[in-house]
Amino acid sequence: MSELINGKLIAEKIKDTIVAEILTFQGKRPNLAIILIGEREDSRLYVALKEKEALKVGIDTHIYRCTDTTPESEIIQMIECLNNDELIDAILVQLPLPDSFDTDKIIKAIDPKKDVDLFHPENLKKLLASCNHEEVLPPVLKAVLIMLNEIKIDLKDKRVCLIANSDVFGKSLAHVLDCRGAKTELMKADDKNLKSKTSKADILISAVGRPHFIKKEMVKKDAVVIDIGITKEKGKVLGDVDFDDVEDKVAFITPVPGGVGPMTIAMLFWNTLEIFKKRL
Ligand code: GUN
Repeated sequence: MSELINGKLIAEKIKDTIVAEILTFQGKRPNLAIILIGEREDSRLYVALKEKEALKVGIDTHIYRCTDTTPESEIIQMIECLNNDELIDAILVQLPLPDSFDTDKIIKAIDPKKDVDLFHPENLKKLLASCNHEEVLPPVLKAVLIMLNEIKIDLKDKRVCLIANSDVFGKSLAHVLDCRGAKTELMKADDKNLKSKTSKADILISAVGRPHFIKKEMVKKDAVVIDIGITKEKGKVLGDVDFDDVEDKVAFITPVPGGVGPMTIAMLFWNTLEIFKKRL
């Protein structure tokens, strides 16, 4: 029987420390701007969740909703206004964007100092250039590190198999894990020898968005499994990992929902608070 890495519970503890710290600023609150473009149901739900959770910790959100016909130039102009707005500490553009938008161009418009996701190329370059990650990290990367830390696993010489759709995301997570001594192999979901790699990994991390594609025969006995994939199907939230199939074989596993998702939101607030403190 495996042990659950309860992201929801860890996230609650982190949010408690954020609340306590925000209270020490005597009424001054961090401000987070969130830009939502298009009509994707999942993106709308995530933004609504971020808004609701931010309210609970004492972060003020400012939501900017645009349609998929809003001209890109208008969105860039809006981001530039937010960059110069003294009130706004942090800016987030909810991804993925509708196909008609140039994601790189829009992300690049964010002031790197207000880029709470650390998706701006300048921030990504900095992240990859060293192993000195004392300051803010992209929320999902920090979420994974904290969850691994929670089970007190020493990453030194651990074989990590990381399956990721996004090259930028995969490379940056592999880098922070390798900085901590892990030996990370980056894979794509369609790699031919995927199973031979996943089944040898001490730590298996999946960020693909393909529901329940990680099965028992793909995992090593007593492995740690971190599920970053989230897919909504018929109103249900499903992870990449077939939890029921693998749970008896592995040592630790993150559930979906209640795993990496709530942790990522907590770390988004953590980053917002860090930027707020720097700007004060
Ligand atoms: N969409 C899914 N996850 C994320 C995230 O961490 N940041 C942003 N901006 N969009 C997302």
